[in-house]
Amino acid sequence: MNIFVVTDAFAKPMAITVPPEGVESLNASSCGKCHTETYREWAGSMHASAWTDPYYQVDLIFDGNQQICINCHSPLQNQQENLVLGFRDKERFKPILKKNPDFDPELQKEGVTCVVCHLRSGVIIGPYSDTEAPHPTRFDPSMVDGIGVCRKCHVVSGNRWDTFFRIPPCGTVSEIREGQTTSIDCTGCHMPAVRRPLVEGWQDRQVRRHLWLGGHDKETVKNALQAELEIIKNKNTREATLTLTNTGADHFLPTGTPDRHLTALFSLTGPAGKIIKEKSYLLKRTIMWRPFIVDLWDTRLVKNTPEKFIFRWKSGLSDDSMLSVTVRYHLLDEKQRKKIGYQNTSPISYPVFEQSIPPSN
Ligand code: HEC
Ligand code: HEC
Ligand code: HEC
Ligand code: HEC
Ligand code: HEC
Repeated sequence: MNIFVVTDAFAKPMAITVPPEGVESLNASSCGKCHTETYREWAGSMHASAWTDPYYQVDLIFDGNQQICINCHSPLQNQQENLVLGFRDKERFKPILKKNPDFDPELQKEGVTCVVCHLRSGVIIGPYSDTEAPHPTRFDPSMVDGIGVCRKCHVVSGNRWDTFFRIPPCGTVSEIREGQTTSIDCTGCHMPAVRRPLVEGWQDRQVRRHLWLGGHDKETVKNALQAELEIIKNKNTREATLTLTNTGADHFLPTGTPDRHLTALFSLTGPAGKIIKEKSYLLKRTIMWRPFIVDLWDTRLVKNTPEKFIFRWKSGLSDDSMLSVTVRYHLLDEKQRKKIGYQNTSPISYPVFEQSIPPSN
C-alpha cells in the first residue's frame, strides 16, 4: 500500500533513444573510445553499478520490482524491458507496461551512464563553450554550478506533503532541501578537479574526475571524520570521551540511504581479553516507513558540530586491562541484510577509527 504520489521526474524513464551525431551508440563504451580516462573512472564508480549492484538487485526484488526504482537506477528508456504507457492509479505506482522492442540489456547494465547526465535533445551538454568535438555540444550552466545534474536524483524535490520523493526510498541526501542548496558544491568534493586533456592529444583543460566516491570508499569516509579520545581520572571512576566531528562532508555524515550508519563501540577488557564492560552508540537516521514515512530521530553528524560519546568505569583495574574504541561505518545493517536475503561478497561495514589504550588505572 502506498499513500504517496510519484513525482513527474520519476514517473517515466528518460526519453533518450538515439545517440548524438558522431557517436556510435548510447553505450558508455562508445564515449570511452575517445574519453578514455573519464570512461575508466566512471566504470569504477557506483553510478556504473547503479543497476548491477548486488545489494540493489536483491532489494529491488524484495520491494516488488517497482517501476520507480528502475527509473532512477537505470533511467533511460532503452535500459528498460518495458515501455510505460500510462498508469492504472492516480498515485502512479501501477504503470501500464508494454514490451520495449528496443530494450538493450548491455545498456541496462550501465546504470547511470554517460548520456543520462550529458545528452539533451541530441546535444552533449558540457562545462565549456569553446570545444570542437566530433559531436554536437552545448555549454549548460547545470554542468558547472556544482549541484546541477546531481539534484535530479540526490536532492529532495517537491514541496507537497504527498510527493513521493519528499523522502525517497533510498533517502539520498535528504537533509538538504531544495532551496537551500545553492552553496553546496557536490562536484567540488565528489568530482575532484584535475588538469588533463578530454581526449588524448587534445589541449589540457581543467576537467573533473568522474569518481563519485562515497560510503563504498573507506578513505573518503575516514578523511571526513575527525575522532579524538580522551580519558579523565575522577576519584573512583574513569571517564573516556570520544569526540566525533564531521569535518569533510557538507551534508550529514553518514548521508544517503537510511541504511547507512555509524557505530561507536567502547570495550573494556581485563586479563586474557575478557570483556569487563561494553557500550555502543548508534549514529543513524531512523525512519518509520508505514503507514506514513516519518523521520523519527536523527543522530548523524552535522558539519563541523562535535558530538561527544561517554563511557565510564570504576578505577582499580589490573595492569593488563585495555580500553578499545572502534568507530565503524555500515553500508547496511546485518538484520536488514538477513531480512532481504542479500548474500554479500564484500564487507557491509568497516572501521574508520580504532584506538586501544591502557585505561589509566
Ligand atoms: C552523474 C552525472 C554524470 C555522468 C554519469 C557522467 N558525467 Fe561527465 N560530467 C558531469 C559533470 C557534472 C561534468 C562537469 C564537470 C565540471 O567541469 O564542472 C562532466 C564533465 C564531463 C566532460 C568534460 C570534462 C570534465 O571532466 O569536466 C567530459 C568529456 C565528460 N564529462 C564525459 C563523460 C563520459 C564519457 C561519461 C561516461 C563514461 C560521463 N561523462 C558520465 C556529470 C556526469
Ligand atoms: C570520436 C571521439 C569522441 C567520441 C566518440 C565522443 N567524444 Fe566527447 N569530445 C570529443 C572531443 C575531441 C571533444 C572536445 C575536446 C576539446 O576541445 O578539448 C569532446 C568534448 C566533449 C565534452 C565537452 C563539451 C563541452 O563543450 O563542454 C563532453 C561533455 C563530451 N565530449 C562527452 C561525450 C559523451 C558523453 C560521449 C558519448 C555519448 C562522447 N563525448 C563521445 C571526442 C569524442
Ligand atoms: C540519474 C540519477 C542520478 C544522477 C543524475 C546522479 N546520481 Fe549519484 N547515484 C545515483 C544512484 C542510483 C546511485 C546508487 C548506486 C548504488 O549504490 O546502487 C548513486 C550513487 C552516488 C554516490 C554514492 C557512492 C557510494 O559509495 O555509495 C555518490 C557520491 C553520488 N552518487 C554523487 C553524485 C553526484 C555528485 C552527482 C552529480 C554530478 C550525481 N551523483 C548524479 C543516481 C544519480
Ligand atoms: C565538502 C565535501 C562534500 C560536499 C560539498 C558534498 N559531499 Fe557528498 N560526501 C562527502 C563525503 C566525505 C562523503 C562520505 C561520508 C558520508 O556518507 O557522509 C559523502 C557521501 C555522499 C554520498 C554517498 C552516501 C552513501 O550512501 O554512500 C552521496 C550520495 C553524496 N555524498 C551526495 C552528495 C551530493 C548530492 C552533494 C551536493 C548536494 C554532496 N554530496 C556534497 C563529501 C561531500
Ligand atoms: C530518486 C531516485 C531513486 C529512486 C526512485 C530509487 N533509488 Fe535507490 N538509490 C538512489 C540513490 C541516489 C542512491 C545512492 C544513495 C546512497 O548511496 O546512499 C540509491 C541507493 C540505493 C541502494 C543502496 C545501494 C548500495 O550501494 O548500498 C539500494 C539498495 C536502493 N537504492 C534500492 C532502491 C529500490 C529497491 C528502489 C525502489 C523501491 C529505489 N532504490 C528507488 C536513487 C533512487
